[in-house]
Amino acid sequence: MTRVAIIGAGPSGMAMLRAFEAARAAGAEVPELVCYEKQTDWGGQWNYSWRTGLDQYGEPVHSSMYRNLWSNGPKEGLEFADYTFDEHFGRPISSYPPREVLWDYIAGRVEKSDVRKYVRFETAVRWVRYNEETQDFIVVSQHLPTGADSVETFDYVVVASGHFSFPNFPEFAGIETFPGLVTHAHDFRGAEGLKDKDVLVIGSSYSAEDIGSQAYKMGAESVTASYRSAPMGYDWPDGFSERPCVQRFDGNTVHFADGSTKDVDAVIMCTGYLHKYPFLPDDLGLVSPNNVYPEGLYRGVVWDRNPRLFYVGAQDQWFTFNMFDAQAWYVRDLILGRIQMPERDERAASMAEWKQRFEAIGGAADEIRFQGEYVKDLIAQTDYPSFDVDGVVEIFLAWKQDKAGDIMGYRDYTYKSVMTGTHSVKHHTPWVEELDDSLERYLHATV
Ligand SMILES: Cc1cc2nc3c(=O)[nH]c(=O)nc-3n(C[C@H](O)[C@H](O)[C@H](O)COP(=O)(O)OP(=O)(O)OC[C@H]3O[C@@H](n4cnc5c(N)ncnc54)[C@H](O)[C@@H]3O)c2cc1C
Ligand SMILES: NC(=O)c1ccc[n+]([C@@H]2O[C@H](COP(=O)([O-])OP(=O)(O)OC[C@H]3O[C@@H](n4cnc5c(N)ncnc54)[C@H](OP(=O)(O)O)[C@@H]3O)[C@@H](O)[C@H]2O)c1
Repeated sequence: MTRVAIIGAGPSGMAMLRAFEAARAAGAEVPELVCYEKQTDWGGQWNYSWRTGLDQYGEPVHSSMYRNLWSNGPKEGLEFADYTFDEHFGRPISSYPPREVLWDYIAGRVEKSDVRKYVRFETAVRWVRYNEETQDFIVVSQHLPTGADSVETFDYVVVASGHFSFPNFPEFAGIETFPGLVTHAHDFRGAEGLKDKDVLVIGSSYSAEDIGSQAYKMGAESVTASYRSAPMGYDWPDGFSERPCVQRFDGNTVHFADGSTKDVDAVIMCTGYLHKYPFLPDDLGLVSPNNVYPEGLYRGVVWDRNPRLFYVGAQDQWFTFNMFDAQAWYVRDLILGRIQMPERDERAASMAEWKQRFEAIGGAADEIRFQGEYVKDLIAQTDYPSFDVDGVVEIFLAWKQDKAGDIMGYRDYTYKSVMTGTHSVKHHTPWVEELDDSLERYLHATV
């Protein structure tokens, strides 16, 4: 029987399990699946851990999420086409739920079927090797609680291990003289400790924006965000400002490229993440900056150098959960032989065409449209329920505008689902005042 290894049971790995389950439920014969997950539960990034650095088994902690993390895009952009928010919660909820609520939603879908049995929890994949002679993969894994190794062979491997876990941690002159906290967004777990402090966040993307906002929300004395390429440019509240690149540290004094200085108590590097796949040899491992069209992947999922290896979720993400579904259904159908794997020339022509479109991208709105076209291209080829992808693109564009106009209030805005037509409701408490991100309070509190 054909055997498929899925590495990771985050949203992408869960989408893969759901895709095969949908085929099985419709009467198809599906391969034997083994999903390796090094954490104790599924959900990937959404499975919060208080730990930082190494976990109880000495493994790098995977999740970069923190207390009081709320969705940073409207949930109407990420909704599954085959499992809506209405179906899960039984009533309309707000457009920007907190982490635990989204975790509940993702898990709710797969708990409806019996796919948990395919997941080997607390089992880390250590090494994957392709055997040219037998045309299959050897996967070496380790059960973390016992240390027991296992070596198995598979016909296909799906890499769904995420790419926001290995910090990009740059060096800055003099930083060794800084006496306060220096950390990376990956190890940030909450801003309560930043109350009354002068905080520096380095970076100008989502982590810088949200961790800076968390610090503001929790009562930081000041927040300074330092950008490399361009400022975020929001209409920040008093006490929140942007400055160009850090040139050097001198004790707790930071010197910026415009000649200005600022004394700070804490430095949080929101400098992004590395694509890193320590379990893959160099001929199978993706090397890319964080972008919407990483090189070497036919239709964004097939590893061109060895088309029995797939990546799900490797792109930078405007679309998330429903894009992972589109990818998983497509990968499933390649494995099931419902879609023929094109020859190398055809794959190369397709990649060249998409690369050209990628290189023509001029800004965030173009990136969103590009990713929308990509999702449409995939879902047109499978039986994943078709949905109004252009409508989702419009939601993302509206979100960008709403956010530009109201950085501390945009999470109180509401949008309409393209899946159900349901208009979301306002959360009972404005985001900037809400200090409790529990599912219990979100769903059941009246004030
Ligand atoms: C701080 C932060 C906030 C975010 N907020 C949002 C948001 O608001 N909205 C949104 O849509 N998206 C958000 N994202 C994007 C997020 O990456 C996706 O939503 C989603 O989690 C990606 O799913 P994934 O399965 O591809 O990867 P992950 O969620 O990273 O899951 C990968 C899984 O693989 C497992 N794994 C890794 N290596 C191994 C190994 N060697 N062996 C076995 N298992 C392994 C990990 O334990 C993990 O469970 C956020 C990301 C970050 C970092
Ligand atoms: N739900 C939420 O609220 C939330 C919160 C945090 C993160 N996230 C998600 O997490 C993912 C990762 O986001 P991210 O912001 O961590 O990474 P990112 O989007 O890859 O951005 C990395 C940032 O680091 C900057 N940078 C890199 N090296 C630098 C250097 N040497 N000096 C100065 N700046 C440097 C980059 O600047 P350049 O622009 O110059 O390259 C960029 O601004 C995204 O999917 C995001 O949506 C979500």
